Amino acid sequence: MLSSQFLISQKKCCGNGCRMCPYEPRHIKGNTSLQKRWNVSEKNPYTTIMNKINIPMIGLGTWLIPNDEVDSIVKDAISLGYKHIDTAEVYRNEEGIGKALKVSGIPRDEIYITTKMWPGMFGQEEPFQTFKGAIEACEQSLQLLQVDEIDLYLIHNPFAKENRLELWEAMLELKKQGKVKHVGVSNYNVKHIEEIEAAELEMPSANQIEIHPWHVIKTELAQYMDKHEILPIAYSTLAPIPNWREGSQWNGKPEDMKSGSMPCQDIADSYNVTVPQLFLKWAIQLGYPVLPKSVKYDRLKENLDLHHFEISRVDIKTISKIAKDDQKCLAWSGDFDPLEVE
Ligand SMILES: NC(=O)c1ccc[n+]([C@@H]2O[C@H](COP(=O)([O-])OP(=O)(O)OC[C@H]3O[C@@H](n4cnc5c(N)ncnc54)[C@H](OP(=O)(O)O)[C@@H]3O)[C@@H](O)[C@H]2O)c1
Repeated sequence: MLSSQFLISQKKCCGNGCRMCPYEPRHIKGNTSLQKRWNVSEKNPYTTIMNKINIPMIGLGTWLIPNDEVDSIVKDAISLGYKHIDTAEVYRNEEGIGKALKVSGIPRDEIYITTKMWPGMFGQEEPFQTFKGAIEACEQSLQLLQVDEIDLYLIHNPFAKENRLELWEAMLELKKQGKVKHVGVSNYNVKHIEEIEAAELEMPSANQIEIHPWHVIKTELAQYMDKHEILPIAYSTLAPIPNWREGSQWNGKPEDMKSGSMPCQDIADSYNVTVPQLFLKWAIQLGYPVLPKSVKYDRLKENLDLHHFEISRVDIKTISKIAKDDQKCLAWSGDFDPLEVE
């Protein structure tokens, strides 16, 4: 267990019959499977039962941070107290992250590293990754990151339809070889994970997906992950703020969303916090580790400063309700949602 990871503080009962209030809008009396996400142990109140992979609740996102800039940002993040770095083969910044970790001198067991194997892209001609290629991709990530073991290794998306199972077998092989501690998936929906279940293979420990108040997890996926104790990890939690990925081609927001006003400003004001802090805490209180990305020191600091307030159950519900019906994901391109691909 990491010593100073940011974890969930214990709550009082919400009155719905559980021992701890998960502030969960879908949480209803008697729904024990949803409660699984929460730890009921008095001794260790800061982690969730489903967080078997001991992932810190706040990690630094690094998508869109170039390799030659990531070094100083990671160093700043570590000095501020970040204990988790999220990267990916396709972000092309593992090398810079590896250098920063080395220079920072942080002991290996005090920093959690997530990276992702790229299986290929939906709708493009490029060949999909294979079992052998996945093993090699992991070896390259280990080398670039300058570590012997990755804490959490994910398949980045479910696009490699024909190769999905063999890629999962490669993940399990890497775990067997001790090159990765935990394995999971990203952007997988029920139908994708069901293939692993049907093959009677070890199930993923986590599924990293787009989660923010405009893109909440659909009930079917939430229930399936709860049943199989697959931890949802939230990415792009700040997507509803108007300046999210400002100027980037990787912004799937329709124009009206880009120019809109800051949502939930009144709620944030009532806690004397910023809207980014409110959304990050909203996700954490729902049991999802978050990965806010910023290249700015003050924002890195702000995004880590979430300990001093608790969002009420009523406000959690209000924030969750701003979700637009059938809102597609915003992080990929806006015209398709990785969760929906075959
Ligand atoms: N598995 C996947 O498919 C997948 C997909 C997307 C993302 N991810 C992971 O999740 C991480 C986070 O997602 P994300 O990068 O899409 O978005 P995010 O962290 O939700 O938002 C980042 C954006 O918000 C701005 N920002 C950050 N903190 C802020 C603050 N306190 N106040 C105002 N603006 C703030 C950043 O600008 P500045 O940098 O200019 O501060 C940037 O434009 C990624 O970096 C990546 O590691 C994974």
